[in-house]
Amino acid sequence: MNLQDLSGLLRLEREKQGLSFITVAERGGFSNESAVRRLEREDTNPTLRSLQRYANALGVKLSFNLERMTILTAFNHAGGVAKTSTVRDLGVTLAQLGAKVLLIDADPQGNLSFGLGVRETTLDQTIYPAIIDELPLPKPLEVHGLHLIPSHLDLMQLEIKIPSIIMGITNLRNAVRKLEGYDIVLIDAPPSLAPIATSAAIAADQLLVPIPTKSKGLESLSTVMNMVTSFRRAAPTLGIALFVVTQFDSRIGHHKMALESIRASLPRIAPVSSPLIYRPSVYDRAQLEGVPVPLLDPRDEAVKRSIEEIMIVATELLERLGVNYGTNAPD
Ligand SMILES: Nc1ncnc2c1ncn2[C@@H]1O[C@H](COP(=O)(O)OP(=O)(O)OP(=O)(O)O)[C@@H](O)[C@H]1O
Ligand SMILES: [Mg+2]
Repeated sequence: MNLQDLSGLLRLEREKQGLSFITVAERGGFSNESAVRRLEREDTNPTLRSLQRYANALGVKLSFNLERMTILTAFNHAGGVAKTSTVRDLGVTLAQLGAKVLLIDADPQGNLSFGLGVRETTLDQTIYPAIIDELPLPKPLEVHGLHLIPSHLDLMQLEIKIPSIIMGITNLRNAVRKLEGYDIVLIDAPPSLAPIATSAAIAADQLLVPIPTKSKGLESLSTVMNMVTSFRRAAPTLGIALFVVTQFDSRIGHHKMALESIRASLPRIAPVSSPLIYRPSVYDRAQLEGVPVPLLDPRDEAVKRSIEEIMIVATELLERLGVNYGTNAPD
């Protein structure tokens, strides 16, 4: 079922419950009843976010089915392009939408773990034993409605140890593929082309490639594309799920030019997301407080906007993955 069909289903449910547009608008926090009317029209393209509010107003829960578990790695060897923020915030948002999500922090810096409020870890809780001793991945931590395999600074040792193990570079791939019970696994790779980042990329079905709308982001792209080609020797079907446009500042001329050039050149390779806007106050707070952006207080206008943007990108990703939506409303 696509979003349009879902909207039709919710309309039927509203009619069945005998609720007026005004009641749904009030319960769902819509600005007025015409926003709800618009949502029901067949020629509009509803967003998952608005349908989710609509469903809440009806007391219906949205659900979606992925045919099989999808493993995605945020990959870009350039530093500071928002790999970790993307994994953290999309992970939380997808979990809020009902997906069973596992996040894997494969970066010894541990920013993803910190960003989810996890500070104290042991090496046994990380990907280390799966890579070195080919053990199953450890029992994950439960944070903010999702599961996390955290990082530890000593993961750094893997950069030296992986090359000394025969086929060591594929051990993470093998371990992740044995997982069960998840819809989506998101792996945060470190900013390098070294063995850990390569292991993380090769573990994926598809990559999420964050690109900031500044020159550094664009410059990294040709290397990313060359790397994808070489990763395919170990992961033949590896593709790019989505280019995630990050840290976009519309007040800056070269950001606008970069966005135009991204939109002109990249869609022939993979879809380009709607932009995540540059909002240091929001993102710095999330990282410092160890609370993902989607869980910050939405009464702050900047936070609210960032949450909406992240929700849009999550929907774009789900669309790309061919997700089927449904509801728990009785027929
Ligand atoms: N939309 C945004 N607006 C403002 N700041 C942002 C935004 N997205 C990310 N940041 C900030 O940019 C910095 C880098 O982001 P992040 O850590 O997610 O990037 P990364 O690619 O994982 O970095 P690294 O390469 O070091 O692993 C962080 O301080 C983060 O809070
Ligand atoms: Mg990072």
